[in-house]
Amino acid sequence: MLSISEKYHVWYYEQEIWRKTKFLGVPLAKSVSDLWNYQEILSEIKPSIIVELGTHVGGSTLFFAEMLKLISPRGRVLSVDIDQSPVFDRVRENGWIELLESDTRAIVVAGRVRQLRAEYPGNAFFILDSAHTKDHVFGELLQLRTITQPGDYVIVEDGNINGNPVLPGWGEGPFEAVQQYLSDYPNDYRVDTDREQKFGFTFAPGGFLVRVRPQSECKTAQLHSNRRQPISGDCGRRNPSCKNRHISHTKRPKIVPQLTTISGIYSRGL
Ligand SMILES: C[S@@+](CC[C@H](N)C(=O)[O-])C[C@H]1O[C@@H](n2cnc3c(N)ncnc32)[C@H](O)[C@@H]1O
Repeated sequence: MLSISEKYHVWYYEQEIWRKTKFLGVPLAKSVSDLWNYQEILSEIKPSIIVELGTHVGGSTLFFAEMLKLISPRGRVLSVDIDQSPVFDRVRENGWIELLESDTRAIVVAGRVRQLRAEYPGNAFFILDSAHTKDHVFGELLQLRTITQPGDYVIVEDGNINGNPVLPGWGEGPFEAVQQYLSDYPNDYRVDTDREQKFGFTFAPGGFLVRVRPQSECKTAQLHSNRRQPISGDCGRRNPSCKNRHISHTKRPKIVPQLTTISGIYSRGL
């Protein structure tokens, strides 16, 4: 039996209102209440950089850039997509936006984020909205492990699919990836349930995460995203000594190096 908010969520999703939503004339695939929630988070944490994984035509990228302009004296929005060709000119021409054409799990993404963090010190806001399979999102979260720091905010979008409550039977996706990650690394993030529940429904259930654990406590964090072997010394709930914990993860995400060229960066105003 669905609750009232779940019924509204299913109705909103099935009406495809999110396909007809635009920001300053550019389509974006978000619920409007999530956008409002993001605006509130941004005004509280005042990030200097926003990293979006999954650009599509760039409506959400433009939204984040315009919000950031209002909040921070200087900053940058980095948006990554495997195909940046559909991005609207209005988005490309925005001086606060940098587009990177790459697989979101490629090492070049973490490298560029580190450079931007050095150039624009402060908090960062990340939003994961690219491929919606569990493996892919888990790989993105592992990558983020090496670049997020306490005070950062991470949104994992589209946990609502696979019956949470929309698209039952879709298969394991972002929600399951977050659950797996939190099980493997229970101390990295605090789940911001109050925020998630604020407007009654969200396309990102379980996906409002506040980074709490310093990287210095993740002894081998820099190596995690590229390793298949278990790394001892990094803690987890099920086996604090970590021995053999990662061996069970036989399906590790593959990095796609051929798409990680810096020439894929379209940058204005640098
Ligand atoms: C849901 S759309 C992004 C929507 C956009 N954030 C918005 O709110 O309007 C997902 C995007 O992810 C991109 N994508 C899919 N798989 C990817 C991958 N492995 N690496 C990078 N981008 C990927 C697709 O090209 C697509 O543009």
